[in-house]
Amino acid sequence: MKTMYLLLLSIIYLLLKLTSSREVIFGHNHFTEYQVGNMNLILSVPHGGSMEPEDIPDREAGCWDAETSSCIFSHECPPGSIQNYKKCKVSTKQDRYTIEVAQALAEEINKITDGFFPHTVINHLQRFKMDANREKEEASFGVPQAEQAWEDYMGFLTTAKSQMTGGLILDIHGQAHPEQWIELGYTLSKTSLNSGVLSASNSSIRYLASQLVGVSFETLLAGNRSLGKYIEEQNNSYICVPSLSNPSPNNGNYYSGGYITKTFGSRHSGVVDAIQIELSQWVRTPEELPKFCKALAKAVMKFWQTNYCSQFKHEFLPC
Ligand SMILES: *[C@@H]1O[C@H](CO)[C@@H](O)[C@H](O)[C@H]1NC(C)=O
Ligand SMILES: *[C@@H]1O[C@H](CO)[C@@H](O)[C@H](O)[C@H]1NC(C)=O
Ligand SMILES: *[C@@H]1O[C@H](CO)[C@@H](O)[C@H](O)[C@H]1NC(C)=O
Ligand SMILES: [Zn+2]
Repeated sequence: MKTMYLLLLSIIYLLLKLTSSREVIFGHNHFTEYQVGNMNLILSVPHGGSMEPEDIPDREAGCWDAETSSCIFSHECPPGSIQNYKKCKVSTKQDRYTIEVAQALAEEINKITDGFFPHTVINHLQRFKMDANREKEEASFGVPQAEQAWEDYMGFLTTAKSQMTGGLILDIHGQAHPEQWIELGYTLSKTSLNSGVLSASNSSIRYLASQLVGVSFETLLAGNRSLGKYIEEQNNSYICVPSLSNPSPNNGNYYSGGYITKTFGSRHSGVVDAIQIELSQWVRTPEELPKFCKALAKAVMKFWQTNYCSQFKHEFLPC
């Protein structure tokens, strides 16, 4: 009888421990998902989704309005405009395995920090249904269900941010550029990175840069305190740009950061920074992914310790 009682107690304890791990909130129709975290880091995955609801028409191309020389993103072109696959084509390619990357990264960060989880926001819709890294109009083509999912996604990012006194958003993507490097986007164009004239105040980590006294922006972006350096030092086959090995992209392909990095980072205002991480294909393959995410988690936490904890010790979790 007593052993039964003890057994029951331990089962209840185990269940509590398992279920209390992470609160998960879904948006309308489960198109979006927010895994609530308990640290000052947010992972965002706008392009990894694979849901293809039939009642949301596919995004292909917007309508070119010659009079205003602009695109109108709608499935039915208003009078005077016409669908244009050259001028108003939209990106529709899924960033494969990026949801898996975010999940593995969160788990690894949890192991390293012994109990802390980043907030994770996921768009489960295929990119040709809704693109969560674009302005609302281009993202959803005026389709109410897609608009709702877009609003849910941005709402989750806003909610996660509101629980933090400051911190960092990592917007996780994938690309297939021939350079096979990892592109870290700080909303600074290829041209400005190549010029070597780096503007901290135009970057998505503006706030961090403004708080680090005696650390040059170059060191933070491509030098000894940069995320690129911390990733590369895990294994030098994880080549990054910008980093010590490649301070700028030169003639190579490079994504500098999209809607989320620009809007939710500290470029224009606020105390939460953002970095867009564009992963090469090979680090996302099922063979490499677990190993890579372990390395990425270590690199992110080193970047965190060096730059955020040194500066904001008392406020930020975990330091
Ligand atoms: C910052 O961005 C603004 C607006 O795009 C631009 O005019 C300015 O030249 C940039 N500053 C630097 C130092 O690059
Ligand atoms: C990085 O640190 C090393 C050792 O402290 C130093 O020799 C090197 O010049 C630094 N490099 C950069 C780019 O800051
Ligand atoms: C770096 O990663 C590659 C790819 O996984 C692997 O083949 C290589 O052995 C690694 N190097 C070290 C020093 O661990
Ligand atoms: Zn993407």
